[in-house]
Amino acid sequence: MTIIEAIQDPLLFRPLFKTLDTWKGWLVVLKAIFALPMNEADRVLFASLAGKQTPPETPVEECWLIVGRRGGKSFIVALIAVFLACFRDYRPFLGPGERGTLMVIATDRKQARVIMRYIVALLDQVPMLKHMVVRQDTESVDLDNRVSIEITTASYRTIRGYTVVAALCDEIAFWRSEESANPAEEILAALRPAMSTIPGALLIALGTPYKRSGPLYDSYRRHYGQDSPVLVIQADTRTMNPTVPPSVIDRAMEHDPAAAQAEYLAVFRSDVGSFLDRDLVERAIEPGRRERAPLSSISYSAFVDPSGGAHDSFTLAVAHEHNGRYVLDVCRGIKPPFDPSQVVKEFCDLLKSYRVYSVVGDRYAGEWVREQFSRHGISYRHCERSKSELYLEALPRFAQGCLELLDVPALTMELMELERRTSRSGRDTVDHPPGGHDDLANSCAGCLSLLATGARGGAYMVNFLTGEPIVSEDERLRRREARLRGVPVESIK
Ligand SMILES: Nc1ncnc2c1ncn2[C@@H]1O[C@H](COP(=O)(O)OP(=O)(O)OP(=O)(O)O)[C@@H](O)[C@H]1O
Ligand SMILES: [Mg+2]
Repeated sequence: MTIIEAIQDPLLFRPLFKTLDTWKGWLVVLKAIFALPMNEADRVLFASLAGKQTPPETPVEECWLIVGRRGGKSFIVALIAVFLACFRDYRPFLGPGERGTLMVIATDRKQARVIMRYIVALLDQVPMLKHMVVRQDTESVDLDNRVSIEITTASYRTIRGYTVVAALCDEIAFWRSEESANPAEEILAALRPAMSTIPGALLIALGTPYKRSGPLYDSYRRHYGQDSPVLVIQADTRTMNPTVPPSVIDRAMEHDPAAAQAEYLAVFRSDVGSFLDRDLVERAIEPGRRERAPLSSISYSAFVDPSGGAHDSFTLAVAHEHNGRYVLDVCRGIKPPFDPSQVVKEFCDLLKSYRVYSVVGDRYAGEWVREQFSRHGISYRHCERSKSELYLEALPRFAQGCLELLDVPALTMELMELERRTSRSGRDTVDHPPGGHDDLANSCAGCLSLLATGARGGAYMVNFLTGEPIVSEDERLRRREARLRGVPVESIK
């Protein structure tokens, strides 16, 4: 039984397809992966998708499918998973009591649920296959042939210990993990030994293209259109799924052509690149140093990136300058959910221990944030620069090697993941990747900018009995400006 026969069989998968006319692209891709016969029309389509004339002569063991959004990737992942799990016999390669695992790896839980729903539908609606299911929960299905289908997310790092009979990786360009800056590379590296005892074990990675780095792009660059055992397919949405209305794509093109070309035409973006090299970030970090305690001889600056407590982290960075070097002393983030007023209090206590009575932060933060900080005796100023400007300003400091950052893994990861986008007007912006975060990186860059501009947050005069500031330096500047302009102090931000 081949996968194409299974799709065409009225007792197997055929009832799941309204018509096979809209699935021509995928049928050709499946024929190529499993080295099944192609007719002339198939060969022409194959050539346009693979960038080469000759389809594989033997089943491929590694395949990369670069396909536009809504192109049918997740459904095909489910179909291949069910086909391989039900129609291949891996028992000859399994030791006594060993189960083979068909690993499906999705970007996040939501995507994993989409694939699981497809898998359950494929198994449920085919009576012959339904009988094979011996156990099923939200993340796995055990079959009676000693194969289990497991759905995991990219941050799930327990591939070790499994015997993997096939691995299907969905949306690999968007894999993100709290534990690693390169989850895709690390998971692929862990999968290969886990698959080594199964002859012909198939690894398929699928994804909508994004920036020109990472394993999806590397595989494309190395193998697309080449005479290579690794098959790479690049296909726009409509070729794989003609049911997506052209108007959807046209609207996306009008709205953001660079993004839409990647999403629907499956072209890697040339306008998005990594901002900081891994080396530059690693060189700036003192290994093992999580925080530096306050010293009375040092004047510190602080930057915060507030958050309402529902989505992003609320972050704080404290830093100082020493002999032309910028030293990060604190970089903390509180993850949601949290009560923002509690976090402000906690941060204000910390700031006071560094004798910082004035912070700078996001200019979009509302009055509420400013009030909360002032309630604890800390003045909050809005940052004049945009986030991108802060990052672009920090870049030369990384290159000059004059930074001493902290060994805070989440900060390291955020810095390494920052992306630079060049707009058509030639203006650069720097931001986190889709689905990523940069709250710690933002506070860190903000703090470096304060050091560069010489803005200090330290107390101007301190009551030597209570330790409280009489007037912060910020407050002194505000009062001075108000005096010079002849306006009330409150009107000076
Ligand atoms: N060739 C096709 N013909 C008909 N329907 C299709 C085709 N390809 C996909 N579909 C349907 O389109 C919808 C999206 O499919 P799927 O979720 O597999 O796409 P995807 O590429 O994973 O999308 P996304 O980029 O949003 O993750 C599903 O309802 C699927 O059945
Ligand atoms: Mg999908």
